[in-house]
Amino acid sequence: MPANPFNAFTDYGIGIGLRVPHYQHILTRKPVVDWFEIISENFMVDGGRPLEVLDQILEQYQVVQHGVSLYFGSADPFDRAHLKRLKTLVKRTRTPWLSDHLCWGSVDGTYTHDLLPMPYTFAAARRTAEKIRQVRDYLEIPVCVENVSSYVEFHVSEMTEWEFLTEVVERADCGILLDVNNIYVSSRNHGFNPYDYVDGVPHHRVAQMHIAGHTKFEQYILDTHDHPVIDPVWKLYAHAIRRCGVTATLLEWDDKIPSFGEVHGEALKAHEFIDGARAAQAPRRGRTAGSSALAR
Ligand SMILES: [Fe+2]
Repeated sequence: MPANPFNAFTDYGIGIGLRVPHYQHILTRKPVVDWFEIISENFMVDGGRPLEVLDQILEQYQVVQHGVSLYFGSADPFDRAHLKRLKTLVKRTRTPWLSDHLCWGSVDGTYTHDLLPMPYTFAAARRTAEKIRQVRDYLEIPVCVENVSSYVEFHVSEMTEWEFLTEVVERADCGILLDVNNIYVSSRNHGFNPYDYVDGVPHHRVAQMHIAGHTKFEQYILDTHDHPVIDPVWKLYAHAIRRCGVTATLLEWDDKIPSFGEVHGEALKAHEFIDGARAAQAPRRGRTAGSSALAR
């Protein structure tokens, strides 16, 4: 098995997304949380309340940046001003890694603000990997790409989604943010076996996982992040943890957000699987928190 370049992140534990309805609770009660994931775009501003809150959070907690607008799969070149603002935020948060999605979302400078699925072709993989390398080299931090949930497929695709993800991350030499819920949602929408997906990605590149709840409609499943995680997704997560070993995990809950306690409690259910993986596979990864220069 190749050395895991993301070993430094294995013991980050279980995080939750930093969301506005929880600000007051977090700042006044200071709950014990392994780390918070922030949406970078919410803090790429010059000042004001968002950065004031962020600075207070950073005094107490580890923060990891997750983005929604790099569009690695778009053919457009990057917006240099956007990257510059992103780098300013990276320096502020000292995020150990940065993630964004394996998707496209813009054409000729017009942005859809959607995470659109890609055609799984070798040409697209080459171009996407090149753009990931550009971001990593500019930001000077490890970059991870996240699989999106999807509802359509392209006739021109030359491989499965997990083969495409593998092709991209191997070419880019980057990490994977494996969204287990997205795999489950897409598997139901497109009719593939989600376990084939989990088994098919390079496990040594999985630096982080996402879990989330979704909404089931008659003909399809929508990735809504507004429910607790369902049992089949926990089962798939358990399998992913067995295959990848101890992995930093984050619960996404972005709509109909309940109390901080409810969100955190749902996230902490992942402990059962992570602790099991730690006990069974500790020698496999053989590292402890902070054992790498990459760790804060
Ligand atoms: Fe996700």
